[in-house]
Amino acid sequence: MARKPKQTLAETTDKHLLYQASVQSPEFELDFIDTTFKLLRNRRAHSMREDFCGTALASCDWVRRHRDNTAVGVDLDAEVLEWGDLNNAARLSAGQRKRLALREEDVMSCGETGFDVIQAFNFSYWVFQSRKELLRYFKGVHRSLADDGVLFLDAFGGYAAHKTSIEKRKLDGFRYEWEQASYNPVTGEMQCYIHFAFPDRSRMDKAFSYCWRLYGAQEVRDILSDAGFSSTQMYLQCFDAETDEPTDDYECTDECEDHACWLGYIVAMK
Ligand SMILES: C[S@@+](CC[C@H](N)C(=O)[O-])C[C@H]1O[C@@H](n2cnc3c(N)ncnc32)[C@H](O)[C@@H]1O
Repeated sequence: MARKPKQTLAETTDKHLLYQASVQSPEFELDFIDTTFKLLRNRRAHSMREDFCGTALASCDWVRRHRDNTAVGVDLDAEVLEWGDLNNAARLSAGQRKRLALREEDVMSCGETGFDVIQAFNFSYWVFQSRKELLRYFKGVHRSLADDGVLFLDAFGGYAAHKTSIEKRKLDGFRYEWEQASYNPVTGEMQCYIHFAFPDRSRMDKAFSYCWRLYGAQEVRDILSDAGFSSTQMYLQCFDAETDEPTDDYECTDECEDHACWLGYIVAMK
């Protein structure tokens, strides 16, 4: 009898687990949201909408953090939401689960209002290729926020962002690869992929694919202002003075050296 071929790690590993382990740091991001909101508004944020939520990892952590916290996760993709429901939301207590809602919806058409915080992380808002679309999205976010609500976005840039590249990181049991496969310097359109590679030499190529426009940070801030936000702040990742390596600290500043790559948050106040 023929032996059943042994399955490779690429065939047996769940891509959403790999994504969460390699790309997301919800604890760090929610600490940042909590601290910054308190600093800006002199109160705690409790209601949060997570746009482009994918597996809703951050929303689940948010309702776990505080008994008054509520979260709404919004994503277009039914498959990723179902995965999040079965794998992340299922780990919540019954009380926590009641304070979480997952919506299969376009972030452009979310009607619910009164959120303290709306967050759109991992550059997902770059899916809007035209300024007109991004403005429409930001206007919708502005309407959905409470009177003192705050929008949290992330952004990256620097000269290394304006070219094709591949960045590899060795993680526990696999390698993460971020590929900027094409970049159009006129339109800013770029095609990016996440690949995963395994110790048995198997690969999960193009596990995730993103067609984005690389926006400049100041351009995003101008569009936020046009959408009605009263002010915006940049929080830039700091660099170690001796090693020049990025650290885990973020500083509220518009001053940025000409680094090959910078990473930061854009915080927009209604
Ligand atoms: C880069 S993932 C972001 C996952 C997660 N927010 C994170 O921080 O890693 C982008 C997600 O945005 C979703 N998406 C893209 N366009 C959308 C839209 N117009 N409305 C809602 N979700 C959208 C995709 O289905 C995908 O799950």
